[in-house]
Formats: sequence, C-alpha cells, structure tokens
Amino acid sequence: MTSMLYPTTNPSAAEQMVVARGEGPYIYDRSGKRYLEGMAGLWCTSLGYGNEEIIEVATQQMRELSFSHMFGGKTHDSAMMLADKLAGMVPMKNARVFLGNSGSDANDTLIKMIRYHASATGQPQRTKIIARDKGYHGVTVASASLTGIPTNHNHFQLPFDALGVIRTGSPHFYRSANPGESEAEFVARRASELDEQIVAAGPETVAAMIAEPVSGAGGVLIPPTGYYEAIQAVLDKYGIALWDDEVICGFGRLGTDFGANAMGMRPEMMVFAKALSSAYVPVSAAVVSSDFVEAVESAASDMGVFGHGYTYSGHPLGCAVAHKVLEIYERDNVFERAAQVGEYLQERLSAFGDHALVGEVSGKGMIGALELVSNKTTAKPFEGMAVGQYCAKAAEAAGLIVRPLGGNRVALCPPLILQREHVDELIDKLTIAVNATLDFAKQEQLLT
Ligand SMILES: Cc1ncc(COP(=O)(O)O)c(C=O)c1O
Repeated sequence: MTSMLYPTTNPSAAEQMVVARGEGPYIYDRSGKRYLEGMAGLWCTSLGYGNEEIIEVATQQMRELSFSHMFGGKTHDSAMMLADKLAGMVPMKNARVFLGNSGSDANDTLIKMIRYHASATGQPQRTKIIARDKGYHGVTVASASLTGIPTNHNHFQLPFDALGVIRTGSPHFYRSANPGESEAEFVARRASELDEQIVAAGPETVAAMIAEPVSGAGGVLIPPTGYYEAIQAVLDKYGIALWDDEVICGFGRLGTDFGANAMGMRPEMMVFAKALSSAYVPVSAAVVSSDFVEAVESAASDMGVFGHGYTYSGHPLGCAVAHKVLEIYERDNVFERAAQVGEYLQERLSAFGDHALVGEVSGKGMIGALELVSNKTTAKPFEGMAVGQYCAKAAEAAGLIVRPLGGNRVALCPPLILQREHVDELIDKLTIAVNATLDFAKQEQLLT
C-alpha cells in the first residue's frame, strides 16, 4: 500500500496493477507484461500511446507559453485555434465553445449556462434537466446528480431536487423492455413516458435533456432504431434542448465523426473531453449554439458577469494538444479507418452471441459489451456475483484490458488506431476470458 486514495475504488482494496508505460495500442505493467488496451484507458486514448507528433507539440507549447488564463477576456492563440477548429467540426451552426478540464466540469458548466440563460431570457424557472437511468455524466456533485448509476449516488446525498433532475428510463431494450414488447413498442413507450414526465413537471420549467448517444459506463447501451427520432419529437414539442454528452462517443467512436450523427440526434448543446485530446492531457469543451449565447449577450450588461470558469479553462497545453489531435483525426482519416475496423470488430464480437454465458452482445463502431448471464434463455442475471470482474481478471491474465460494468457486463472501447490483426488478438483473448468465466460459473454452480 502507498499513501494513495484511489478514485472509484473500494477504499479497503489494495493496488491491483502498476502500469509502467504505453506504446501504440498496448500498455505494459511494471513486470514488463504487455496488454492490449481494449478499453483505451477509460474510453479515451483514441490515438494510442507514445505519439511523437503530439509529444512534440506539447513540448513546444510548454516552452513557448506554459500558462495563461482566460478570465476577463484574456486569451491566447492555442485556445482560440482550438475553439474555432472544434466549432467548425461539430454538427451545430455557429457553435461557441467553453473550455475546461474534464467531462464532469464541462457538464457542470452547461448546468450553469442553462441557469444563466434562464435568467437572461426572463424565464428563471426553466432550469430542470431530464437525465436517463444508467446515463453517466460525471462525478462532481452536480454532474453526478445527472448520472443515473446508483454506485455514483450512494452515500453522497446528492442535490437531485435542488438541481431539478427529472429521471427518465434508459433506452436499454434487453433489460428494460416489458415481456413480449417489440422494439418499436418499447421506443413508443419511452417517448410517451417522457412526454408524461414533462407535462407533470410543467413544460415551461424544463430546459434540456442530457443523453449520451450510446451510454458507455452504463453498459454500452445501444438505443433501438427510431429511439432518438421519437425522443426528439417530444422535446421539440415543448421547446426543450437536446444536450448531447459526447465525452465517449465523440470523435469517431461510433463509426462517424460524432455520436449525434451516428444516432440521428439534433443537439443544441454538446460536451467533449477524453478523445478531444486523445487523453494526452486533460481538456474538455462545453459547446452551445450561437442563438443560446446571443440570448444571453443582450441581457448580460444588466446581469453582470458569468461567474464561472476554471483556472485551467483553456490551459495552453490542453489546447495545443487537442488542436493537434483534431488535425491528426482529419489528416489521417482516423474516423473512416476506425469505421472500417469497427465493422470487423462488430462482426467478430457478434459471434459471442452463441456463447452459453452471453445474454446480450451490444456494440457499434469501436465500442461494445457482453452481458454475462446465469441463464441464457431467461436472461437471468448473476445475482450479487461480480462475474464481470472475474472475466476482466481472466482477460488481464490473457493480456487484454476490458472493463467490468454493473450488471455483469464487460465493456470494450479500444484505441481507434487498432488494425484488423489487433481485433483478432482482442477476440482471441476475450474468448479465453469468457471461457474461463464459464468454467468458473459451472464450478461455483452459478448457472441457473
Ligand atoms: C459520457 C461521459 N460524460 C462525462 C464523463 C465525465 O468525464 P470525466 O471523468 O472527465 O469527468 C464521462 C466519464 O467517463 C463520460 O463517460
């Protein structure tokens, strides 16, 4: 044990692995053992490890200007270049960009922008936010309140009511559909539930609905066909903004540039982190439409300052690195290549559908998950047993990093630079791990 206190870890647990270095899509532990990083760290190292071009840009930026803040109108070239580049890429017209350091703080920024906007437009009551069960939006007190995962709520007495959080159902058909319900019926039910919740809350009090195009930490949940179309129609009916959390899905993850385009979403606000810098350094962005900002600008002289900003908002290092990463994505056709390899990944992954232990295979582009069940026919979960943890450990032993998620799901989200032969390696190692987990489940008599 060291003096570290670890994030999202049981405080009584000991260190599990000391990661020493990374190269391409691989990491190495202190003993020199190599692992294929099937999770791109925490859904983030899209360009893999040790990219010399990025390291060079970072070094140069630190030599030239290691810090400059953005308060009170001060700025610098790297921040302006990043904001303009990102605004030019997102599927929103004349977007405006607020920079931060993490997905959580970018979501907090939008909560405050929504409230500032509500005051500026003379509708101070319009601050409620719809957030989904199993959604993940961060862990600050505010963003954790938007997150819909019990582990991130337990013991924290989060201010759901004060923030006006309206919790709506997840789009996970496999676990949330009623018996005998078709996908189309499920989608229609989710849309009508949403409509009822908005009416019950008072439509004039609801500002936005936050959604990940595909929920990542909630289990890699792919909404059924037509889901966003149906949800969007309800939101449009009441003038409620769709707030697109692209922290995992942004930048090529789902086989297109942005998750919104892959899933048919029409966002009015977006949030980015992780792959924005390929996780070389912390940087995030909250993006809103110019209409939204203009509504605020006209009232701002009476309202006073937008009193929100981080010391490291627009940190030169983060901006220079993120700008370079976006350039590499475009120059090297990273999204198109990832889409091709992603098709192969999904094809190989789908074969797990025949495995005795696998209840659901979900995936799109370069993200996927398996749900391990105690009974394939009835989809009965393993109760109280962390079989997903066992599988992740078995994968680790085989030299592959995957992530166990609640409900005994095992997630994959490899770097976008993966080649077909890496996919073969990933699938071979995952097969070893899932087979070992089945043996374990049989031995412990966990199958029902
Ligand atoms: C969709 C989504 N939003 C927000 C966050 C929070 O980002 P961070 O951990 O950088 O605060 C995450 C982190 O995993 C995420 O997956």
